[in-house]
Amino acid sequence: MDKKEIQGFSKLPKEQKLQWLADNYFSDKEQAAKELSSYWHRYPETQKLFDEFAENTISNFYMPFGVAPNFLINGRIYAVPMVIEESSVVAAASMSAKQWLERGGFHAEVIDTEKIGQVHFLWQGEKAKLDRFFAAIKPKLFEETESITANMQQRGGGILGVDLVDLTEQMPDYYQVKARFETCDSMGANFINSVLEKFAAILKREASQWSEFEGDEKQVEIIMSILSNYTPNCLVRAWVSCKVAEMDCFVKDMDGPTFVRKFSNGVRIAQVDPYRATTHNKGIFNGIDAVVLATGNDFRAVEACGHVYAGRNGQYSSLTNIDIQDGQFTYTLEVPLSLGTVGGLTTLHPMVRRGLEMLGNPSARELMMIAASVGLANNFSAVRSLVTVGIQKGHMKMHLLNILKNFEASEQETELAKKYFVHNIVSYTSVREFLELLRSGQTVKL
Ligand code: MEV
Repeated sequence: MDKKEIQGFSKLPKEQKLQWLADNYFSDKEQAAKELSSYWHRYPETQKLFDEFAENTISNFYMPFGVAPNFLINGRIYAVPMVIEESSVVAAASMSAKQWLERGGFHAEVIDTEKIGQVHFLWQGEKAKLDRFFAAIKPKLFEETESITANMQQRGGGILGVDLVDLTEQMPDYYQVKARFETCDSMGANFINSVLEKFAAILKREASQWSEFEGDEKQVEIIMSILSNYTPNCLVRAWVSCKVAEMDCFVKDMDGPTFVRKFSNGVRIAQVDPYRATTHNKGIFNGIDAVVLATGNDFRAVEACGHVYAGRNGQYSSLTNIDIQDGQFTYTLEVPLSLGTVGGLTTLHPMVRRGLEMLGNPSARELMMIAASVGLANNFSAVRSLVTVGIQKGHMKMHLLNILKNFEASEQETELAKKYFVHNIVSYTSVREFLELLRSGQTVKL
């Protein structure tokens, strides 16, 4: 079917955007417009706020805002906000939190909080000349960005260092100004990008006037100025640890040493096989992303960075590590997390404000430790199930409700299904057959 094109869509009022969409893209025009607008917030000023977070907004997309209580992290108990659509993620995090609560909880430390930005440019000439030029103009990069950095410096941050990087072996004439930043409690993207664009302007201006440069050398061709989402030195470590002998109750009817042996094999496979490592790490990001979203942070940046870090040694591998020494089990997650607790959505989005308040309005460093602990908790739960009872039992139990909703099951049917599927395998077909039996009036043995 050919869809209509439209000019000036972004300029239309929201109601007209929605109407145009309904008229052109839905068969049940009126119903579609009604349904989409039914998710507008009841307070117009709140809706206006949501509308303005992005462009061409026509409605809101709801996601569950859940809570994982009892998270003991560095001796303090948190109720952690988690925004996630996948059933069983919050349950898995909560279960892990509860199991570790009695064993000292989660421990975490921030290793560093350095952010990176680059000005990518082309320059033709002798490298030694560029080195001399860069050394001479370097102080100007700091001086002339002071109006941008003053505030950040007062908070204890700013530009940590600036280097010239020669990448001409990888690409002809290609160099970078690579800068390191401390952005305190903000994620710092706007701050970093503003500084970098100023760097680029200084570089261009100074090169055009540099007496040692001749002809093409005077032309620094700026390609782009942008932060890097790869921040290997914005790193946090979270771990759990207890005696193997105290691990009898992690899985019903399984002693601690057997469980630990199975668990270790599960982790080691993720360390050597990229196919398994991807899924293993995905399970970590189930928890991390849910916290990142609930606290108004950028989950795409966090994911991109984490996966590159997982491949930093030349092969994509697990982000977690296991250590068993003298009967002590220690399970560690090390992950770069560039997060902020000020700026961006953190003060604007009412649910993010509540999410942060639940966590006691943490600093960015504290939030890094919380998110990493939740990531580790989710991964621990997933691997625990995978190497023992399997994932589907718990997963499908949670998914049962979604399937029942798909079949528009009544409350009574849902209650009966919950009983029936304690002893029967959940699948789309088995739920459909169960409901068909019920609805045809036949007796179903629960
Ligand atoms: C599902 O969202 C996450 C898991 O696949 C993670 C894992 O396999 O470790 C269960």
